[in-house]
Parts: sequence; C-alpha cells; structure tokens
Amino acid sequence: MPIMKWTEQLSVKVGLFDDEHKKLVDLINKLFDAMERREGHSALGAILNELTDYTVTHFHHEEEAMKKYNFPGFDAHKKEHENFVSKVADTKKKYEEGSIMLTIPLIDFLTTWIKEHILKSDMGYSTFLVNAGMK
Ligand SMILES: [Fe+2]
Ligand SMILES: [Fe+2]
Repeated sequence: MPIMKWTEQLSVKVGLFDDEHKKLVDLINKLFDAMERREGHSALGAILNELTDYTVTHFHHEEEAMKKYNFPGFDAHKKEHENFVSKVADTKKKYEEGSIMLTIPLIDFLTTWIKEHILKSDMGYSTFLVNAGMK
C-alpha cells in the first residue's frame, strides 16, 4: 500500500514540477514497498540512492526557475533544499555504513518533509512562476 499519494491539493500549477513531485512520491512509495517486502540492504540502498539523486535534480530545476525569474524567496527556499539534501545524504551514509536501518519513522520523516515543503514552500512560488509564464 502506498504511504504517500499525490493529489490536486499538492499541485503547484507548473507542469514540470508537478510531474517531478509525482515522481518523488513514486520513489518514496517504492522505498516503502521494498522495505515492507523486507528486501535486502543493497536493494533498499539502491532505491534510497535513486530518491536522493532525484531530489537533488528536482531541487536544481526549481532553483534554476526561481533564479531565472528573480523570485524574491529564492534564498530561503534554497536553504531549505540544502538542509534536506544534507540530512538525506547523512542518512544515506549511515545506512550504507550499517549504523542505521530503514524504518517506518525514517520514511515518515521523508514523506512529511516533502509534503510540508510542497504545501508551505513550493506553493510560495506557484503564483509567481505561473505569472512569469511557466506552465
Ligand atoms: Fe522546493
Ligand atoms: Fe518541489
């Protein structure tokens, strides 16, 4: 069963970013399913890598757009991205070293962070970027 669902409520009205958010939701669910199926350490690690890499790619796309159109909230938004990326990189490192396990609370943390970030921060660029011509 999926742990997270993309709904219209999460739409930032920019097609590229909605698609990328959907893909992030898919990757979270893929990680959760693999964990529930008790897949091995390296299989879970590979999905965690995929999620980390895709998060970085997505954040770059948002940052490029915010910068291109001089979005006033750019610095604060970028800072949030950086904090999350460093937290996830640290988690990935600890997982690879074997000092932590993939647990429900960990997946909950990722899910909640992404959801809250879309609702509170990404929504903040929505009208601005749409008015700037993005769709
Ligand atoms: Fe963002
Ligand atoms: Fe986003």
